[in-house]
Amino acid sequence: MRCTVFGTGYLGATHAACMAELGHDVLGVDIDPGKVAKLSGGEVPFYEPGLGEVLRRNLDAGRLRFTTSYPEAAAFADVHFLGVGTPQKKGEYAADLRHVHAVLDTLAPLLDRPSVIVGKSTVPVGTAAELRCRAVELAPAGEGVEVAWNPEFLREGHAVEDTLRPDRLVVGVDATSPGRAEALLRELYADLIAAGVPFLLTDLPTAELVKVSANAFLATKISFINAISEVCEATGADVSALADALGHDARIGRRFLGAGLGFGGGCLPKDIRAFMARAGELGADQALTFLREVDSINMRRRTKMVELATRAVGGSLLGANIAVLGAAFKPDSDDVRDSPALNVAGMLQLHGAAVSVYDPKALDNSRRLFPTLTYATSAAEACRAADAVLLATEWDEFRRLVPADLDEVVRSRVIVDGRRCLDGAQWNAAGWRYFALGSSPRDNSRETRSGRSTSRVDA
Ligand code: UDX
Repeated sequence: MRCTVFGTGYLGATHAACMAELGHDVLGVDIDPGKVAKLSGGEVPFYEPGLGEVLRRNLDAGRLRFTTSYPEAAAFADVHFLGVGTPQKKGEYAADLRHVHAVLDTLAPLLDRPSVIVGKSTVPVGTAAELRCRAVELAPAGEGVEVAWNPEFLREGHAVEDTLRPDRLVVGVDATSPGRAEALLRELYADLIAAGVPFLLTDLPTAELVKVSANAFLATKISFINAISEVCEATGADVSALADALGHDARIGRRFLGAGLGFGGGCLPKDIRAFMARAGELGADQALTFLREVDSINMRRRTKMVELATRAVGGSLLGANIAVLGAAFKPDSDDVRDSPALNVAGMLQLHGAAVSVYDPKALDNSRRLFPTLTYATSAAEACRAADAVLLATEWDEFRRLVPADLDEVVRSRVIVDGRRCLDGAQWNAAGWRYFALGSSPRDNSRETRSGRSTSRVDA
């Protein structure tokens, strides 16, 4: 089949390449000629493991092309996926739909045949119905233009796998439309459906809400464990052992119960805020006031990390050399949007510390966002003469660090684990002071020589 994908960011580029991987002829569309040139040349403009191979394989096979031309896209296919970004509005919680509207307003007047626009972007509930009215009004094909919503659940760092082997396909359709969308999408996703991926057909608002509800739930789960970790800090209990024990309950599950610096990125923070804003517009704001708390628990983790670092260096950050390992909002990504790691690095600098940041993939993006921080080209370089080493993003490279890697590099053997992913016992045994975000001050300030992990002391 033929389809187009509008927007070539994390979502759109992955979707375009993966639709081609499923055997379809795909045209990716973006207004940014730079992105189009890179993708056409087989280069992914961001870091996403495995995407480069899928991209190049399908470019070579002739199933995938990229363009900036809307007329070319309108002529190419009758199914148009919409995968542009919906960031947070400046100074407001609501989502900024300008990119979604720009695509629709430019594309619809070119649609002179019955066509289906399939939204994948995360949007406030009600957007799809509004777009359908707009499309019918603007398109020469009028009522022949349908809008369906097929939200995307991909995680950065696992985008290819999540697109080709999703947990479920959710498709929202409009009962008043001609009704081609369901059949077309079933055909486009035939291989996935044959492989057993559940295909859930809903109306438009349900499909829109599934996505924001899923992200709200995940954010709540993370903030739940982080709130519990604050109680653990106060009592000396071990939040990691607690999460393991909770996770054995099949109704709860262990995933997304990783306590630490909390969530960031281009999705969870802005999606829960946009969800609250939309609920307010709909007169249902009370229903989601708990998300305000989820947000504030999450943001508090960053301040707590700065406080812990301050304690770790003896009470004042002024003049302290701090190494921050990790800048991306999570491992296997170069995305620094609302990154807890970079936020902490910035706050440390504001408190007078000299901060040196290292990240395996996110240095360029970090420099653009926070040009005043110092960036190192390796973990060891960042840690040179450090008074404390902060682990802020749990890249494998950092999880694998052992004391001997840094023993001779740092000025003081102090490590602050913001993701609770190191073996505290090992660091303590090697003469380091190991601090874990979410452990009690008593455990964290203990200069254990017993070799027991601080996070296991009271388990
Ligand atoms: C998220 C959703 O998972 C995905 O389904 C949706 O399509 C987009 O938003 P993503 O933003 O790529 O995906 O990241 P995710 O893996 O969900 O992690 C989000 C943040 O939560 C990261 O900053 C991560 O470090 C943090 N996190 C995750 C925790 O703090 N603890 C955990 O246990 C899990």
